[in-house]
Amino acid sequence: MIQILYYPEVSSTMDTAKELARKDCPDFTVVVAGRQTRGRGRLKRQWLSDDGGLYFTMVLRPDIPVQLSSRVNFLASLTLACVLRELFQIDAAVKWPNDILVDGHKISGMLSELEAETDRVLFVNIGIGINANNDPSGVEPGASSLKKITGREISKKMLLARFLAEFEKRLKKAEFENVIAEWKKYTVTLNRRVKIVTHKEVSEGLAVDVERDGALVLELADGTRKKIVYGDCFHQGECFESQ
Ligand code: BTN
Repeated sequence: MIQILYYPEVSSTMDTAKELARKDCPDFTVVVAGRQTRGRGRLKRQWLSDDGGLYFTMVLRPDIPVQLSSRVNFLASLTLACVLRELFQIDAAVKWPNDILVDGHKISGMLSELEAETDRVLFVNIGIGINANNDPSGVEPGASSLKKITGREISKKMLLARFLAEFEKRLKKAEFENVIAEWKKYTVTLNRRVKIVTHKEVSEGLAVDVERDGALVLELADGTRKKIVYGDCFHQGECFESQ
């Protein structure tokens, strides 16, 4: 059963969710916020979180080995892309690892935090920010919002309810073996030149595959292949390098 907790304002739904998870809140507790004062993105970036956007974190306790836990994130981005397509008839696509783009513009980002005991996942918290009725494009030129794309105010409540129902259904069906294969059908990252930036290095190459654990495989200039497990992905050859 899904338990939704709504807060008008929090520092970050990731913080609230972590606190609840450590206090043994039930599986599929969802922390939703009207706005965040310290919303955060991947690689310690800030996530603009004023009114109008949809911000939530799901506390999940899947019974899967740690090495395959990233599949839950891929299932979440895949589900969100499908729900956005169905609700708004837009060409929502997934960008590695878990961004949602529409016509090259980012409309959603995902962050996950995991705690485990030996090989057992205690919880994996998945935080999702969706540019719904806000417009971050002034500050983030590569970003857009559902309102801007569809030309109308969208119901955040309806979007959240639809996403959660669909995600719960897909999680229960335990289609984990097929998640990556299905995700690949909706991605705009494969078969294009990308640059992956981490704290340690920058890798450039052709994105040729995503492995069963979610790692991106790059074909480098010298023909060798490199497996990338995390990082910021920049698509090259677009009018801008989308983040
Ligand atoms: C990214 O693309 O860098 C990930 C952005 C994740 C933002 C969401 S909003 C809800 C949750 N709370 C946060 O502070 N971050 C995530």
